[in-house]
Amino acid sequence: MKELLGFLAVWSIVLSGLALVTGVVLIKKGNRVAHHRAMLTATSLALLFLVFYLAKWALYGTTAYGGPEAWRGAYYLLLITHTLLAAINGPLALYVIWRAFRGEFILHKRWARVLVPIWLYVAVSGWVIYLVLKRYGVETGTIAF
Ligand code: HEM
Repeated sequence: MKELLGFLAVWSIVLSGLALVTGVVLIKKGNRVAHHRAMLTATSLALLFLVFYLAKWALYGTTAYGGPEAWRGAYYLLLITHTLLAAINGPLALYVIWRAFRGEFILHKRWARVLVPIWLYVAVSGWVIYLVLKRYGVETGTIAF
């Protein structure tokens, strides 16, 4: 069950990143309706990620890094930037969507251009963290950061 939740969480964030890139390509081609759909799909997948991730965290606690010492600093830098940017990503995405639904496309575009790189960083770093912990993870059995 633990592995399944981790697997579902990482795939939802990766698929949300892919839907996001698709949405950007679609709007560049001028396809507004498909852009709208792709972005709402990306947002739903990101919400699914949150559900799977929180369920895993609540049921099984956190996994600590147990890999080579030389890589510990780099791993924690990745983990901290991933976590902080993931926390910013949620409210910023809601803001960007809200602006679009109000028809305020200048503000929508301005903030969407900040949001898209953050979202992609979160998706890619989430995948890297998953792979690192699959190889070097140590179960702590505690619910802590
Ligand atoms: C988190 C969700 C979303 C993200 C990340 C996002 C991202 C973007 C980006 C990056 C652009 C600018 C592309 C460029 O550089 O030219 C854009 C434009 C646009 N978006 Fe979104 N979008 C989202 C949701 C939506 C939704 C839900 C709608 C419809 C209600 C929408 C409608 C539009 C429209 C109409 C434009 C073109 C505006 C113009 O050229 O004046 N977007 N979006």
